[in-house]
Amino acid sequence: MSLSHGRRDANHHRQPNRPPLRRAHPERRDRRYRSPENHGYPVEELAERSSFLEVAYLLIHGELPDPTQHGQWVDAITHHTLLHENIKKLIDGFHHDAHPMGILVGTVGALSTFYPDAKDIFNEASRRLQILRLIAKMPTLAAFAARHAVGMPYAYPDNDLSYAGNFLNMMWKATELKYEPNPVLERALDVLLILHADHEQNCSTNVMRAVGSAHADPFSATAAAAAALYGPLHGGANEQVLRMLKEIGSVSRVSEYVKRVRSGELRLMGFGHRVYKNYDPRAQIIKKVADDVLAVTGRSPLLDIALELERVALADDYFIKHRLYPNVDFYSGIIYSAIGFPVEMFPVLFAIGRTPGWLAQWQEGLLDPEQKIARSTRGRRSVTCPGSEAPTLTLPQRGREESRQ
Ligand code: ACO
Repeated sequence: MSLSHGRRDANHHRQPNRPPLRRAHPERRDRRYRSPENHGYPVEELAERSSFLEVAYLLIHGELPDPTQHGQWVDAITHHTLLHENIKKLIDGFHHDAHPMGILVGTVGALSTFYPDAKDIFNEASRRLQILRLIAKMPTLAAFAARHAVGMPYAYPDNDLSYAGNFLNMMWKATELKYEPNPVLERALDVLLILHADHEQNCSTNVMRAVGSAHADPFSATAAAAAALYGPLHGGANEQVLRMLKEIGSVSRVSEYVKRVRSGELRLMGFGHRVYKNYDPRAQIIKKVADDVLAVTGRSPLLDIALELERVALADDYFIKHRLYPNVDFYSGIIYSAIGFPVEMFPVLFAIGRTPGWLAQWQEGLLDPEQKIARSTRGRRSVTCPGSEAPTLTLPQRGREESRQ
């Protein structure tokens, strides 16, 4: 797929004359309105008026950067995007049809062996360096993984481009001397990364904190968090939405599909959320981004099915009673697919967006004087003998029983 556009500089998402972003009033800082990890800035405003790297700075530092801090931050990340050449050899060793998320999990973990200084986790300067490296290198690992799958030579980072623009460059640059990303697609990707940057104590964030609590280096902890995200119950929902829309196949079959959901036969993918029991604010932003992207790439029949599905579901008693609304994944898969990403790349894109959130939570855990090594409060492991009538024994009890025999 080839994309073309006019080049912009790395800071172009910052509009010099824009009014400053303000934190929401505390009373409005409820779960409906924002992710608590945004430090009080409504996610809608961040998505509309800031860039992904600004939001990354906000998550790591707790405040948006001033112009000087922003310039230094973007510059530092831009200059850490290259990978050690041996990582390329490592990627070459993966099977031709290896899942890009599997490659990402393996290679981000492998980075810890290239940066032994990352073990110095209580050194502030070292932590900052690893944070820059991770935010910078995740897109490079991701794009190299994608190109390995299709047998294309790796495209090196282009420091003239924005974070999202450079990622599109590394994904799709072919023989042209200079790749020029389409500005609408570049901005759409940046917004999607913002919307995925952090979201409470979800599964992968928990893993990041748990591994970090054992004082592992951040590359190993990020590999573990990405492994959690690889699971279909976590990072795979947008892929399921795309498959569901293809299965429905046409607008005329939407009502029949919703009836099957009502009967309990199916779940509507991209609907419902553990936290949002009303319209996910991120879904509204994404719907607008989908319109912008499809105006460039051409209208998708899947969007028509999605719109009809949303219309029918939102008027349906079952969905009203269960307070089920579209979530962030309902439209993101349509956008990724329209931009040209294969479905296997969806969780990888999620991981790139979530990296600053993981790192902010990892650092917060390390700096918390009350943090102890993580232990699960659930799941006492028990042992049963299949087919026997013997009572279930937990492992320590079992040890005692055995020692008596
Ligand atoms: N379609 C149909 N019914 C649903 C759906 C759905 N998408 N989601 C929940 N329900 C129903 C359940 O059947 C249940 O009904 P019942 O009380 O009559 O038995 C009730 O709503 C509550 O369901 P829970 O699973 O307990 O709700 P919970 O808040 O724990 O689940 C979840 C949230 C997992 C996201 C769920 O809504 C779901 O499976 N959605 C589809 C998958 C999806 O889109 N995941 C992406 C989430 S966003 C993200 O991870 C970035």
